[in-house]
Amino acid sequence: MFKRFRRKRVNETLRNLVKETILTKNDFIYPLFVKEGTGIKNEISSMPGVFQMSIDEILKECAYIRTIGLNSIILFAIPDVKDSIGSECLCENSIISRTIKAIKKEFPDMFVVTDLCFCEYTDHGHCGILDENATVNNDATLVISAQQALIHAKAGVDMIAPSGMMDGIIEALRDALDSNGYENLPIMAYSTKFASAYYGPFRDVAESAPSKGDRKMYQMDPANRLEAIEESLEDERQGADILMVKPALAYLDIIRDIRNSSKLPLAVYNVSGEYAMLQAAKIAGIIDYERVMMETLLSFKRAGADIIITYHAKEACELLSKQ
Ligand code: PBG
Ligand code: ZN
Repeated sequence: MFKRFRRKRVNETLRNLVKETILTKNDFIYPLFVKEGTGIKNEISSMPGVFQMSIDEILKECAYIRTIGLNSIILFAIPDVKDSIGSECLCENSIISRTIKAIKKEFPDMFVVTDLCFCEYTDHGHCGILDENATVNNDATLVISAQQALIHAKAGVDMIAPSGMMDGIIEALRDALDSNGYENLPIMAYSTKFASAYYGPFRDVAESAPSKGDRKMYQMDPANRLEAIEESLEDERQGADILMVKPALAYLDIIRDIRNSSKLPLAVYNVSGEYAMLQAAKIAGIIDYERVMMETLLSFKRAGADIIITYHAKEACELLSKQ
């Protein structure tokens, strides 16, 4: 006697009843890139549908995405001036502070996350302060990261996501936030972030490619699975509220490993290169883009993710609105 699996596949209603994984609009965080100026909306050639936007355009985008039920965003800033320590992001009038305030004023219930790093703000494009031998000084970067976190907090951000892969960053930010009255502000750690070639298109949008060297001294080796779990568990121990695996598609095994090792909510970052590949295949006419996109997003949840940070969030919510 053999088992007849096909019995439960005979019609859509039954298939839906036995479906194990479902994508919803509540799963997504949508990345937005803010630039100085007004009326600016520059599309990124490798990432059709992704723009650098001035604050006024960001507000229009927020107004629109709310109408399709997309309520969470993660902000990246592209400042006009850069220097060796990223001073722009350490002042209260920084572009990111002004953006947070503008969004929260107009849309108080929009959930605003900020990426906390230095690579967009430094002239050398590395994720922290460099020391004499041109490596990122971990502990000096912790000090200015805490300063940056307080600036985001004062501007009214809802969650902070440090992405620089500095050791001890979660503890440093948690201490700074707690001792300044922000004990209820959550931290989403970029806890397991690999030194990935999939970030290429992002560095074009964010104008944040390192001018010399690479990020292998602080981001993880894609070959390491056990270390990937350890990285996330250490951030949990330091006080992270949400863990993350980044990139997503080439790391589904790691998502599952961390899901099985921690009880914290888990985010994945479906990064720029992953988005660019699907868009390129769409333009080349070689895939059914919408179906491939939804299947890809579903795979993240099936692997164990609760939250998906993705440039597809808007398209996905538009599709989910039609269903
Ligand atoms: C900044 C940061 C990066 C990404 C998110 N935050 C780039 C990097 O580490 O080089 C990548 C996002 C993407 O590729 O979509 N540290
Ligand atoms: Zn960085």
